[in-house]
Amino acid sequence: MPTFTLKINNKKHTVEADADTPLLWVLRDHINLVGTKFGCGIGQCGACTIHVDGSATRSCLVRLSQVAYSEITTIEGLSEHGDHPVQEAWKEIDVPQCGYCQAGQIMTASAFLNESPNPSDDDIRNAMHGNICRCASYNSIEEAVKVASE
Ligand code: FES
Repeated sequence: MPTFTLKINNKKHTVEADADTPLLWVLRDHINLVGTKFGCGIGQCGACTIHVDGSATRSCLVRLSQVAYSEITTIEGLSEHGDHPVQEAWKEIDVPQCGYCQAGQIMTASAFLNESPNPSDDDIRNAMHGNICRCASYNSIEEAVKVASE
């Protein structure tokens, strides 16, 4: 079994796994970073979103061998004390209902705001529309992204 060294949340991790293993399973099963969630496994729901070199990325679609030299950030590494502006806005607006999709939502929102710090309402809707929420808390999500941008 090959060995890969990954940089995740500013720490190096050595993983022994097949090169084609989806990054989502490496994070959850090998490194125990279980904040990143499995939803669909085919890139359709956004629950597994993380940052790879700063870009929002669906970890179910990325293979281990593709990220050996990348900077990977998961929800656990977004901030030291859960106080990233997006996380603060999420708390202020009280966004989560069941909570399952929230890590993916927050990782998508934080990457988006890094690239577009002053978004319009339409920009926010377009950026977030690929992240599915089964509780349909879309209005709260959009409001929280707006608050985080202010
Ligand atoms: Fe990756 Fe749904 S689990 S997009």
